[in-house]
This record gives sequence, structure tokens and C-alpha cells, in this order.
Amino acid sequence: MRSCSIAVLGATGAVGQVFLRIIEERKFPAKSIKLFASKRSVGKRITVLGQECVVEEPTPEALRGADIAFISVSGEISRQWAPIAVKAGALVIDDSSTFRMDPNVPLVVPEVNADDLRHHQGITAIPNCTTTPLVMALYPIHKVNPIRRIVVDTYQAVSGTGRAAMDELREQSKAQLDGKAYPPRVYPHPIAFNVLPHVDTFLDNGYTKEEWKIVQETRKIMHAPDIAISATTVRVPVFTCHSEAVHVELAHPMSPEEAREVMAAFPGVEVVDDPRQSRYPLALDVAGKDPVYVGRVRRDVSVPNGLAMWLVSDNLRKGAALNAIQIAEEVLKQDLLLTPERR
Ligand SMILES: NC(=O)c1ccc[n+]([C@@H]2O[C@H](COP(=O)([O-])OP(=O)(O)OC[C@H]3O[C@@H](n4cnc5c(N)ncnc54)[C@H](OP(=O)(O)O)[C@@H]3O)[C@@H](O)[C@H]2O)c1
Repeated sequence: MRSCSIAVLGATGAVGQVFLRIIEERKFPAKSIKLFASKRSVGKRITVLGQECVVEEPTPEALRGADIAFISVSGEISRQWAPIAVKAGALVIDDSSTFRMDPNVPLVVPEVNADDLRHHQGITAIPNCTTTPLVMALYPIHKVNPIRRIVVDTYQAVSGTGRAAMDELREQSKAQLDGKAYPPRVYPHPIAFNVLPHVDTFLDNGYTKEEWKIVQETRKIMHAPDIAISATTVRVPVFTCHSEAVHVELAHPMSPEEAREVMAAFPGVEVVDDPRQSRYPLALDVAGKDPVYVGRVRRDVSVPNGLAMWLVSDNLRKGAALNAIQIAEEVLKQDLLLTPERR
């Protein structure tokens, strides 16, 4: 794999910190690294891949020379900086939802649709951290037995909202156990010892934006515009890992055994499914791991050709940083860095 220069915007955030760990684990071929964050973090020193980096505020000049810009900031800040990074010559891999549904932006889970990267025009995007594990588990089934309908309910960790939400869960839990008040700041209600059927803002159709992202992104990544999808997204007091209860209707019958086999054969999916021994994927076990874990695979007896399953994935790894790094590895493998005519 050829080496490249990288810029990381949002290097101090929940995703950014995991990102820096994973590029070390995978020995990502970065010949130079620049780290960017907000004013608050300027001057922080972080050593990564043996290089000591000083965190800067992003500027067009500072971005010049980067082959790849990993952007892991809010959507609003991505919208501002992604075009500037492209103009400076970098291929952007964006973690926010801002560009995902733009027809000119490949939305990629490399195991599923790496070929879509060939059509990039400077910006590529990773999916939402609930969509990625869903398509990882369902795409191998869809390839052999087309999926007609998906109903998914999520149990999402607070790290999906970022560092501030992790602090809120920690502090609010302590306060509640001590009988003290800790008013919610990040969420509309207390998250400690609670379950919130509310992730992102509500749309006119009664769904939340998070639920609508699952619908649209799943169809785009799987090139399956006709799959019927309904989602309910729920925030739970867990630090890391999103869990999902998934129900699918297929074109033809499929046994749970066959479904387990096709999922287990897919790269990046592990089946842990021995409920009699109380073995199924759990957030506490999956945190810090790369694969998407699937268990509780069974017939959905409420419909013909139905399957039900449970999946768990580390939202900061495969749900965000790892997927972005895998896109970069694929870009280097397919020789798709920006050329002057693509800028
Ligand atoms: N968390 C997940 O599981 C997950 C999964 C998939 C996608 N995403 C997406 O990834 C992005 C980052 O999420 P996160 O959870 O890492 O959020 P976070 O923990 O809140 O981190 C935000 C990062 O943005 C930086 N930042 C804030 N204002 C900035 C500015 N004006 N200029 C440059 N950098 C600035 C922050 O720097 P300071 O430290 O200096 O404040 C921090 O490094 C979001 O778009 C999110 O939707 C997150």
C-alpha cells in the first residue's frame, strides 16, 4: 500500500481519539499527520504513529499537502471544512451526516460497496453508526435471498452523541446514586437509569432524523431502493456499543442455520449464538472490538419468510473510525486519491 499524508479534523473527539488508536493498531501508512480541533484544544500534544503532533485550528493553508482529510466534527463544521479540504487537494472521508445522501458522494461500508468509491468527486462519507452494522449483517443475506422489509429497533450508547454525552452519563449516574440532582444538558431528559425513545430531532412524519438515516442510508449502500424499512431508535445508558433488534422479511424461505452460515462467512461479521448457554452478543463484550456481532438468530414467526436477530457493534470503531480507515485503505488500494482534474 502506498503511503500518504493525512489531516484529522476532530482529533480530540470521541471518534477522533479512537481513530488515532486504530491507525496505530493497523499501522496505517501515514507519512505525515496533522491534527485539528477547536480553539479549546490548540497546543495539545498527541503522539501518534511515533510522530508528536500539536493540535491546531484548521485553516486552508494548514490543510494543504494532505492527501486524505478525515473529518470527524459536527455536520455544520464538516459542511464548512470539507470543500476547503478538497480544494487544498485532499480526499475527504467525512463521518457526519451532512453529505451522506448527496448523489455525488459515495456512502461506503467497504465490505459491501467498496466499488462505489470509484465515483467520488472529492468527498466520501461513512454511514450512521446504526446503519453500518445493519448492512454488514444483512447484506450477505440479501445477496442470496433478497430482503423485502426490515424492522429495526436500536439500543444506542451515549458515545454515539460524543464526548459530552459520555461525561453526562458518568456524572449523572454518580449524582443519582448520591441522591443529588444533575439536570440533563445533552439530552432532553436524564439518561442515567433511563431509556429515551428519541435520537436526533423529530421529523413531520413522526420518525426521528436518526430513524430516517437508517432508512435512506441502508437503501443507498445496498443499492436496494425498494426495501421497506421502519426503525425506532432509542438511547440507553450504555457507554459504548449500539445494539439492534432486527426483523427481516425475505423473498424466499431461509432457515436460521443458513442465515448464520452466510453471515459468519462475511468478512467483519461474527456469529455468537448459543442462547441456551446464555451466549449472545453483549455491549460490554463487544466494546473495543472490530467485528459486528450477531446472535439470537431465529425465525420471525409473525410473517412468512421472516428472520429475527440481535446485533451489537462498537459505534466508535466499525460504526465510525474503523470504517473511515477501511475506506482510506481501499482508496489507496484502488489508487483513488484526488488528482488535479478531480479537485
Ligand atoms: N460518536 C459516534 O459513535 C459516531 C459514529 C458515526 C459518526 N459520528 C459522527 O462523527 C462526528 C464526530 O462525532 P464525535 O462523537 O467524535 O463528537 P465529539 O466527541 O463531540 O467531538 C467533536 C470534535 O470536533 C472538534 N471541533 C469542535 N468544534 C470545532 C471547530 N470549530 N473546528 C474544528 N474542530 C472542532 C472537537 O474539538 P474540541 O475537543 O477542541 O472541542 C472534537 O475534536 C459527528 O459528525 C458524528 O455525527 C459519530
